Amino acid sequence: MASELHETAKALVAEGKGILAADESTATIKKRFDSIGLESTEESRRAYRDMLFTTPGVEEYISGVILFDETIRQSAHDGTPFPELLASKGIIPGIKVDEGAKPLALADGETVTEGLDGLRARLEEYRGLGARFAKWRATYSITDTLPSDYCIWTNAHALARYAALCEEAGIVPIVEPEVLMDGTHTIERAHHVTSRVLDAVYTELFDQRVDVFGTLLKPNMVLSGYDAADRAGTDEVAEWSLKCYYKHVPAAVPGIVFLSGGQSDEDATAHLNAMNAKGPHPWQLSFSYGRALQAPAIKAWNGKSENVEAGQRAYYHRAKMNGAARTGMYAPEMEREAAAV
Ligand code: 13P
Repeated sequence: MASELHETAKALVAEGKGILAADESTATIKKRFDSIGLESTEESRRAYRDMLFTTPGVEEYISGVILFDETIRQSAHDGTPFPELLASKGIIPGIKVDEGAKPLALADGETVTEGLDGLRARLEEYRGLGARFAKWRATYSITDTLPSDYCIWTNAHALARYAALCEEAGIVPIVEPEVLMDGTHTIERAHHVTSRVLDAVYTELFDQRVDVFGTLLKPNMVLSGYDAADRAGTDEVAEWSLKCYYKHVPAAVPGIVFLSGGQSDEDATAHLNAMNAKGPHPWQLSFSYGRALQAPAIKAWNGKSENVEAGQRAYYHRAKMNGAARTGMYAPEMEREAAAV
């Protein structure tokens, strides 16, 4: 069992490849569809994911896809269940298992992620449906006084309980503590908060006997707040981010797979590239982007079947750019060259 977990974790961060997070909850995908004026129905959600998952050749750059509960049970237009379709392309199916961030009791403005009740049975079912890895996301807001130690440690405890249950079920846990970058904070403050969060997460993972060789970390990059007056540039982001992970992420972790967290798609690619250009590092540095892989695709598709190929081209392009950023070989000019093809 341990070796299967290690192999799956390593395969998810194979050279030049990363993960597509397509696990938007029904409420979140509705927001994305609202942006193109498309009604969110079970069929429109299926058609959208069908477009992404059947993109020709994307398996060159995509190692795994995170699905939502509804999606793992849906099928492509030819009737092939999505997990089977992905696996046939050599893409590993994954599943979001948390039930969202809910208000943390007695802690104004803070959240704790729920979903542990019944998780052992759900994991067994998901494994039967083809999932080989999972995701659980905790969120933390930065203010002058938050996050509290209470919020940090409560979420770390839950993340470790989830990770232990995953390993027991033969499923690689992606551990996702996301420090949100909304606000006016400095990059130093983001570094301080992210460090405290990661320190708590690894303390709990070790206390709860999780074999970190069989896990992946999905953290935020360390950025200035999106509304900060003087925002750090690409190189500074790479320096502060690496400093944080070098201090707080064990070398036993096979890979760090970033979330994009509301950065523009090109910023998310450039930041990943800058970090990899400073390598080699003890872990693979890769991507597990949602918005930064999908935003141009959803726009190009616009909910219309005649635009499926345009949507697929946009997704393939972002996957390719991020694949290049895995080795530090990305350059912004590649965006234009590809657009000209
Ligand atoms: P974003 O890349 O859009 O932040 O999504 C990644 C994700 O899976 C959030 O949980």
